Amino acid sequence: MLENITSAVRLANGVEMPQVGLGTYKSAEGGDVEGAVTTALDLGYRRIDTASLYGNEAGIGSAIAASGVPRSEIFLASKMWNDEQGFDATLTAFERSLTRLGTDYLDLYLVHWPRQQTHDTWRALERLYAEGAARAIGVCNHLEHHLEALLAVADVAPMVDQYEFHPWLQQPALRAYCERHGIVVEAWAPLMKGRVAEVPELVAIGETHGKSPAQVAIRWLLQLGVATIPKSVHAERIAQNADVFDFVLTPGEMATIAALDRGHRFGPEPDRGGDR
Ligand SMILES: NC(=O)c1ccc[n+]([C@@H]2O[C@H](COP(=O)([O-])OP(=O)(O)OC[C@H]3O[C@@H](n4cnc5c(N)ncnc54)[C@H](OP(=O)(O)O)[C@@H]3O)[C@@H](O)[C@H]2O)c1
Repeated sequence: MLENITSAVRLANGVEMPQVGLGTYKSAEGGDVEGAVTTALDLGYRRIDTASLYGNEAGIGSAIAASGVPRSEIFLASKMWNDEQGFDATLTAFERSLTRLGTDYLDLYLVHWPRQQTHDTWRALERLYAEGAARAIGVCNHLEHHLEALLAVADVAPMVDQYEFHPWLQQPALRAYCERHGIVVEAWAPLMKGRVAEVPELVAIGETHGKSPAQVAIRWLLQLGVATIPKSVHAERIAQNADVFDFVLTPGEMATIAALDRGHRFGPEPDRGGDR
């Protein structure tokens, strides 16, 4: 049920993940990320997304420790970077993330990009899951063919696929594939990297409801049953992005947004593995 910022989706193993969380890509280590996480936790956010690539795990750990919110109430996810993939390297990367975050477990550990060695990486995630060090495991940026190959060798299926998803990039077949296989979809770049105001339809729908185009974009994902992690380092926007539980998009508005899909990526092609 979509009620408030702690409303959760249930992963295949029964673990509950808040449907809206705070993204932190490009939230700078130190004051910026600490301020964002502190604000978010104060506002009731309980899901925080990071990655070893982001270089901000220590700040996130400090903000969580100082927040007074029990660790058990926070759903914390991180990811290993591409050069940390492989069985042993992933176990090492996981330990490093735990140390930086100041925690002894993660709620979700994610493969950041599909790579040649992802099957070895996945065996490490299955070990972490079996040991209880990761309450759930998943992938990012996996298309159908990546998931197909992984499911063929996995003992534990990924519980989440976190991929680029917004009105200009919807990939309905990928979402249907995930639904069929019990994989929860989590949208990154839900705000089109801050460009939602460039979409007149989102602005117009927002005006009908007294909401911003960012709030319409987030609400649309929630009504699709998709989880999402909008990023901001500004308190007013962190609050705005959570204020999406007091209006409902009509079927007509949902259809208008569905028609905006133009296959436009702001991020890399998953088949290129997120090389930078
Ligand atoms: N798995 C992956 O490969 C992957 C890749 C990319 C991202 N992610 C995750 O997904 C999260 C979200 O994606 P993202 O950060 O790339 O993009 P995003 O959330 O779509 O957009 C973030 C941008 O929107 C701005 N913004 C925030 N709230 C706004 C609002 N209410 N109105 C207008 N602009 C607003 C932010 O600026 P300010 O901060 O200045 O407010 C920032 O420039 C990331 O932070 C990260 O945690 C995962």
